[in-house]
Amino acid sequence: MYEKIVNADLNGDVRIVDLRSDTISKPTQEMREAMYNAVVGDDVYGEDPMVLELQRQAAELVGKEDALFVASGTMANLISIMVHCSQRGSEIISGDNSHTFRFEQGGSAQIAGVQTALLKNNEDGTFSLDALRKKLGKILIFMNLLPPLLSLKIRTICVVVRATRTRKALGGGWRQAGILAAAGLVALDKMIDRLQEDHDHAYKIAKAIANLKSEIFKVDLKTVHTNIFMMYFDSSKFTAEDFLERIEEVRESDPIKVSVKAISCDSGCIRFVTYWEITVEDIDIAIKKILSVIRELENKFNE
Ligand SMILES: Cc1ncc(COP(=O)(O)O)c(C=O)c1O
Repeated sequence: MYEKIVNADLNGDVRIVDLRSDTISKPTQEMREAMYNAVVGDDVYGEDPMVLELQRQAAELVGKEDALFVASGTMANLISIMVHCSQRGSEIISGDNSHTFRFEQGGSAQIAGVQTALLKNNEDGTFSLDALRKKLGKILIFMNLLPPLLSLKIRTICVVVRATRTRKALGGGWRQAGILAAAGLVALDKMIDRLQEDHDHAYKIAKAIANLKSEIFKVDLKTVHTNIFMMYFDSSKFTAEDFLERIEEVRESDPIKVSVKAISCDSGCIRFVTYWEITVEDIDIAIKKILSVIRELENKFNE
């Protein structure tokens, strides 16, 4: 990260490596220029060329007939729920750790009137097939008896048409949205190929922690495939907040003047996320800090 803070007490620069979330990353210079130069129109009339192109490219990328540009992930999830569960009182099955259930202000219940049946998520966010079978038993048998009724093409177009109306109802009819779609087009063109770099960076931190073979702090390298990973620890002697405060704090006595930020995902779980602004040097210096705090807390724990 290029950002630095000056800590008056330390009389010098303190480097910040902010690994809380990739949602805090900022547009690249190329994205800013594309936004400035974007040719726009009224997207509610379907006339914004940048939005139309972004939707076309996004659909093509995942092999779908059409796509819809929406204001946020939360809106995308809510629109999907409303399109698939158009009757109030419908039920969705959701992981107990899913974003929709935990972080979206209960929109599925409040706005869509949909009830949620919870299924316990495994640590890596997946479900156990048995648990899913138990919940889905009847529906699966019913579906298995049905021949495919519609081609994917027709169904997909129908879904997008209904989703567009739902988006408007939710206040997401964003007139000259092409200004942002222009940045999205740069993202599709330039950022996909460099994602591996973020994945490698996350893996490097995860591996450094795993290599410590700590009895208290654990990372399961088998689950580290993307730019996000979790570190689990025994929380009987200190909390996630103790760990987070210590990696963020910089003391006069600290050999490395770096402040690392992350977030807790549960009482015994810390999440680290990398993104394009996090450099190789950031990763190396963050590793030093994280490992030194782990050792410090381990020593305290074993006292
Ligand atoms: C899996 C997932 N779903 C939904 C969202 C919500 O996105 P937004 O913050 O754009 O509403 C996020 C955001 O971090 C997410 O990680």
